[in-house]
Amino acid sequence: MERSVIRVVLLHIILTSYGVRSVRGSYKHRNIQEEEQPNQEQPYRTGFHFQPPKNWINDPNGPMYYNGVYHLFYQYNPYAAIWGNISWAHSVSYNLIDWIHLEPAMIPSEPYDIGGCWSGSVTILPPEENPVILYTGDTFSGQQVQNLATPKNLSDPFLVEWVKSPHNPLMVPYDDIDPNFFRDPTTAWRKSDNKTWCVIVGNQDSDGFGAAILYTSDDFVSWRRSDKPLHFSGKTKMWECPDFYPVINGGKNGVDTSVINGVGVMHVLKASFNDHDYYVIGNYDENRDGFSVLDDVDFMDDEVQLRYDYGVFYASKTFYDEAKKRRVLWGWVMEADSQSDDVGKGWSGLQSMPRSILLDTNGKQLIQWPIEEVEELRGKKVALENKELTSGTLFEISGLTASQADVEVSFRLPNLEGVDSIDEKSFDPQLLCRQMDASVKGVFGPFGLLVLASEDLTEKTAVFFRILKRNEKYVVLMCSDQSRSSIKTHVKDAIFGSFLDVDLNQEISLRTLIDHSIVESFGGKGKSCITARVYPKLAVFENSHVYAFNNGTTSVTIPRLSGWSMKKAQIAELDKRRKPTFT
Ligand code: FRU
Repeated sequence: MERSVIRVVLLHIILTSYGVRSVRGSYKHRNIQEEEQPNQEQPYRTGFHFQPPKNWINDPNGPMYYNGVYHLFYQYNPYAAIWGNISWAHSVSYNLIDWIHLEPAMIPSEPYDIGGCWSGSVTILPPEENPVILYTGDTFSGQQVQNLATPKNLSDPFLVEWVKSPHNPLMVPYDDIDPNFFRDPTTAWRKSDNKTWCVIVGNQDSDGFGAAILYTSDDFVSWRRSDKPLHFSGKTKMWECPDFYPVINGGKNGVDTSVINGVGVMHVLKASFNDHDYYVIGNYDENRDGFSVLDDVDFMDDEVQLRYDYGVFYASKTFYDEAKKRRVLWGWVMEADSQSDDVGKGWSGLQSMPRSILLDTNGKQLIQWPIEEVEELRGKKVALENKELTSGTLFEISGLTASQADVEVSFRLPNLEGVDSIDEKSFDPQLLCRQMDASVKGVFGPFGLLVLASEDLTEKTAVFFRILKRNEKYVVLMCSDQSRSSIKTHVKDAIFGSFLDVDLNQEISLRTLIDHSIVESFGGKGKSCITARVYPKLAVFENSHVYAFNNGTTSVTIPRLSGWSMKKAQIAELDKRRKPTFT
């Protein structure tokens, strides 16, 4: 038998002896969502986006694929729906869609993390391929330090228990490092000497600029601070949750974090600040421990500001999925309603749909797409072709469970004559989307989808495009307008926007994942993503509708539209007291 086959068989034996075969399998477990549904009092809980049964969550931490199992850790308050007592919650999956929630992997317990086990990452260490966690501890005196934890029992298929290292803390703030601005270690990468580990830690330097402090180590325990940061930016403040990884120009696959050189290898540096996840693309030079951005496009560039998502999406993290040779991105999607509403519903925060991430063929930006596994949840399909949307058209895409759906649509434009012009200095798409919300008629657009809409359209979330002209060049604006999403009064009436770099001779595509209180939209096959949180009062469950619309004066055509009702993901809790039995 081949080694990989032996591994799978062994894993199967281990899992079945553990009492768990597959989330979709026939063992007895508590299926949380079945117990909870239908629950008219919880209209905002999701059907297929990740969330624990209750309480506060924030950043995804240490995602990994290890021995056939996907792990997601995340910032979690075990006691309440507000931030506090921050622990590393832990869930496992075989497909990144169906999840088993486990006991927290780490809770604050030691002087070096008693204030909270904050964000961090997993690195899988050769030669035995052992996973280890590097995370930030908030100490008894409120300092931020970096700590190590390892699995207690590597033969446990779910790695339920984790042990904090006796060497902790491994990295402490000294000299010019402000102990309040020193956190969120990345997945480490190994230099080509196959010996030196490197990791970056988020920081705000003594000039008040966002930076990534670089550390190196030969044994993963004692770490040396490099004399200069890997990168910093005078236009930003504290960098939270940095991420640093290679992508391949022209490649269709992701690559391991330790791939440094090779044909087409470029590096992505992401930092979280100003409530958004910004990234830059550039070259990493391991000999001089430096990173330089491509084409001078650095963080907060006046014209190009690359973000993973132009809506609600923060403190994200990627991991390399060895099983499918892809890089997968997770992001925290926070609530947009009030804290008292969070407390009332007993939970706060979601994780985005995991997205596979690639470098665009132009090498200048990333492309994101929901992982293919989500398509397994697609149920009943509705489809249409070659539908003309004349000015003022609004038509319902009926036959879907519109509060839990996946809709893919594309738009074709006629000759672009008479396109609306914008000022040559208009580089802020969010501002443009606010100035020209979904109710403002243009020549080409707004056209797109109205989702989570009530029948009378009192409530609706518009995801749409507009074609504009700036400096004699066409630009496509993609907007997500939440200003009419809910009759609730104290919800943030955000309107988000992005420019979309697409060829107007081709179709403009939009895919929207609608899941009760989250609307995750991918424009231009994943060139721009906008995630929104919405809280309709009327457009819930079966009272929710999806429409296509064109509020521009020129007709556009929908060459193709496909919509699917989405099934619920299966969510289970491993119950320690009750031994699961097979049926
Ligand atoms: C980002 C963040 C991190 C920190 C964690 C604490 O949302 O502030 O910088 O480690 O959350 O929960």
